[in-house]
Amino acid sequence: MALAYTTVSRDREIEQILALQALNHRHSVDAATAISDGFTSVRHDPAVLTAMNHEYPSVIAKSGDDLAGYCLMMAQRFRDQIPILQPMFAMLDSLSWRGEALADNPRWFVMGQVCVAREFRGQGVFDGMYHTLRDVYRDRFDFSVTEISQRNARSLRAHRRVGFETLHVYEDAQADDVWEVVVWDWRE
Ligand SMILES: CC(C)(COP(=O)(O)OP(=O)(O)OC[C@H]1O[C@@H](n2cnc3c(N)ncnc32)[C@H](O)[C@@H]1OP(=O)(O)O)[C@@H](O)C(=O)NCCC(=O)NCCS
Repeated sequence: MALAYTTVSRDREIEQILALQALNHRHSVDAATAISDGFTSVRHDPAVLTAMNHEYPSVIAKSGDDLAGYCLMMAQRFRDQIPILQPMFAMLDSLSWRGEALADNPRWFVMGQVCVAREFRGQGVFDGMYHTLRDVYRDRFDFSVTEISQRNARSLRAHRRVGFETLHVYEDAQADDVWEVVVWDWRE
């Protein structure tokens, strides 16, 4: 069945996102799969994810009624609603991109999480979703920011291929992990 790239418009799609997110969470996948296929680190509260999508719909890939993947749009104004992401936003406040402090610029958002369902990986769904995200939001935003664990080599590689560039690298000594903050700038 052909894939359709669109934005979230139904509560059922939010339930499907939460289910796919849970399936791919770092606590759900085995160690070998985490290395080969990657993993998600955040689990969203359903009410917060619903509010995020009502204001700025996220991008999804659909195969009929099935969810093939999602790419979450997280506007800066939701920064206080996801406790696990607050340290990331505090860090972003201290960073600059192309000579401009992120803290002074409202024209960017966080890509909150991307996931492609296992049976759809390696088929261009990742690129299709990101290109749709850019089409939908490039009039209102200059760039998107996200962070990726260096343990997730597959995700890092796919993000670089789409056009993300590394802005900052930091170590989370407590979790024994290194994270890359990456930016995809849509300006010419
Ligand atoms: C990460 C994810 C979104 C990427 O989508 P995908 O459809 O698998 O991505 P693609 O196949 O288009 O691209 C993956 C790239 O990594 C490469 N790759 C595959 N396995 C790899 C591995 N174990 N290590 C390094 N690179 C790997 C592929 O060759 C490809 O790169 P290339 O186009 O330069 O050859 C998807 O695998 C996924 O949902 N994983 C689980 C959740 C997750 O990790 N989300 C991201 C959180 S930051």
